[in-house]
Amino acid sequence: MRQSLLAFTRVLASLAAAMTFGAGLAFAAGDPAAGAAVFERECALCHTIAKGEPNRFGPNLFGIAERKAATVPGYEYSPEFITMAIWTWSPDAIASFVIAPALTIPGNKMSMFQGVPDSELDDLIAYLAAQK
Ligand code: HEC
Repeated sequence: MRQSLLAFTRVLASLAAAMTFGAGLAFAAGDPAAGAAVFERECALCHTIAKGEPNRFGPNLFGIAERKAATVPGYEYSPEFITMAIWTWSPDAIASFVIAPALTIPGNKMSMFQGVPDSELDDLIAYLAAQK
């Protein structure tokens, strides 16, 4: 319940930020160096991030902040993910997904990940957006 409320609040906040400042500026306040540590701790078990690195349990995330979803070559996405994720990732869209993956796309292969704490989200997204 708390997670779904958080996810919903985040979507509303993202929409408001996108309308006010234009997409992409909402996470300008995040610290990419702090975000790198969050990535190591929360994501690196399943994802590589440098260009050309192999897929792990999850797909490589290089350039994720402006990439079409579900398009990493050689990675086998779940049918649930392929059906639902028909967008191009933006920083706001990534934030909405990683804060509660199981709620955004029920049944996707990242569902066992419990989500990034709100306090770490801005730093993480700033780091991801810089990997391009
Ligand atoms: C337990 C393993 C696991 C962890 C931990 C994990 N992920 Fe994932 N992630 C996956 C899997 C598996 C997929 C593919 C989902 C599918 O196909 O259903 C995925 C997909 C994604 C996608 C979509 C990629 C695309 O090509 O469209 C993004 C973005 C993402 N993860 C970001 C993150 C971030 C950021 C973190 C850390 C906060 C993280 N993930 C932590 C397993 C994980």
